[in-house]
Amino acid sequence: MEKPDVVVVGSLSRDLVVHTSNRPRVGETVIGNSFNMYVGGKGNNQAIAATRAGACVEIIGKIGQDSFGDIILDVLKENKVGHKYLFRDKNLNTGIANIIVDDHGDNSIVIVPGTNHALSSHDVDSAIEIISSTKVILLQLEIQLATALHAAKLARNSNVTVILNPAPAVEDINQITDLLKHIDILIPNEIEASVLTGIDISDEKTAFQAAKKLMNYGPKTIVITLGAKGALYVIDSGEYTLIPAYAVKAIDTTAAGDAFCGALAAHLSQDGNLERAIKFASAAGALAVTKGGAEPSLPLKEDILDLMSTKVV
Ligand code: RIB
Repeated sequence: MEKPDVVVVGSLSRDLVVHTSNRPRVGETVIGNSFNMYVGGKGNNQAIAATRAGACVEIIGKIGQDSFGDIILDVLKENKVGHKYLFRDKNLNTGIANIIVDDHGDNSIVIVPGTNHALSSHDVDSAIEIISSTKVILLQLEIQLATALHAAKLARNSNVTVILNPAPAVEDINQITDLLKHIDILIPNEIEASVLTGIDISDEKTAFQAAKKLMNYGPKTIVITLGAKGALYVIDSGEYTLIPAYAVKAIDTTAAGDAFCGALAAHLSQDGNLERAIKFASAAGALAVTKGGAEPSLPLKEDILDLMSTKVV
């Protein structure tokens, strides 16, 4: 087996997506405009994003022995994501995400974890050959915290760069303080960074305050994605750098963060330079909002480079 550049330990889900001009209020029924099903889950999306961005990628995760699981496996194969450690649980259903997208491209998501919460530390242990030989490991919070923590510790023991996208946000940072001690690069969006720090992020200054606070928990590098305002990174709490966003028309923001994280991990694993990786990731995230759905919106390396060469930020 070729040594992976990036190993993703995370969720895989079937996304059930409705588009509606009117978000329903409590007790209200509204008529939607369309319904589609996509392959999603933050782990799956970030693995596919990293592969399309040019990295050799393996995923560690768990799906069911149901038709949703079959579809996810087929899409991973089509995208050449290594799946030797994609486990199949015969008792549980594959995870799903119920997603509402409005006319602005903004979404609300309800997740039913299913098999994603059955991925265990024991499963992760069995994949030690790829965890110890990869350059970068990429984690999110749609699997059990104990499993993510175990993966982070194993990777750290092998001097692998550990990246955490703390999504979805946890209510209390104390839930993840152990995990944060084993993270090299933390990539929250502005909502996640606000929830974790209690700082209301309205601009780059408040984002910088939040980044400095997050650094106290362990990660030496913080990258906060700020949507149309760009991405701010801090590698030394004395100063920050803001990488502007590419201006694009938003159709659907679902998986934009996943495109960013996957592309950043891919670029970093091959080039090693954080700022160049963030610029590449910003272009990937921008392209992802221009298309509907999670997996279909994740861009190819050539399209990312094309955007970077034609548009100056
Ligand atoms: O980040 C986007 C993903 O979040 C969707 O694909 C959905 O599965 C949810 O987990």
